Amino acid sequence: MSRPPPAPVVIRPATAADAVACAAGARQVAETPRGIVSRPHEIRDNAVRDHIEALADGARGAYLVAVLDGAVVGHAWLERYGPEVTAHVAHLSLVVHEGFQGRGIGRALFEAVVDRARAHPAIEKLELRVRATNARARALYASVGFVDEGVFRRRIKLGDTYLDDVSMALWVDG
Ligand SMILES: CC(C)(COP(=O)(O)OP(=O)(O)OC[C@H]1O[C@@H](n2cnc3c(N)ncnc32)[C@H](O)[C@@H]1OP(=O)(O)O)[C@@H](O)C(=O)NCCC(=O)NCCS
Repeated sequence: MSRPPPAPVVIRPATAADAVACAAGARQVAETPRGIVSRPHEIRDNAVRDHIEALADGARGAYLVAVLDGAVVGHAWLERYGPEVTAHVAHLSLVVHEGFQGRGIGRALFEAVVDRARAHPAIEKLELRVRATNARARALYASVGFVDEGVFRRRIKLGDTYLDDVSMALWVDG
């Protein structure tokens, strides 16, 4: 089946005003337990607002949104680990909201957040975790240069079903 043309999306830093849309989008994606770890009831507007504000000054990372026709249709964040010995490493996460996947928005957001990491003076390494079964996400990350670093066996438990999580990483210094 042919894919639709890329959506003319704008990527910009999130503000606190985007929190409700980001949380709503994540909750909808979480209804289908195949991509993100949190369950819908675990995604709270206030927690998303706090997260956006914590990353707003750029020191710890970045929180970006994808905007299409004035609406937030995806979000991604980059966050350095707190301990000094791991502060050169940042964790990434990416969500494209339901109805907007498969239109190039995930790639645009992911490349933008990786660019942010490359421009950050203290970030040397990016890490993420992705379900072994999430072929779309793994293909996207690999195409940007991420490599598998290991497998967390049966880390995800959905009812009686266990799934493996794959750790992927990219060095961005130099
Ligand atoms: C995974 C996700 C972030 C990808 O974003 P997206 O906007 O759907 O993906 P894009 O349209 O940008 O495509 C990215 C790549 O995925 C693959 N892909 C996308 N749509 C596809 C489709 N319908 N069939 C097969 N592959 C597809 C392609 O490899 C594509 O690369 P390309 O740019 O070279 O064509 C998004 O689908 C999503 O949020 N899913 C639910 C939550 C999730 O899984 N998050 C990741 C957790 S680790």
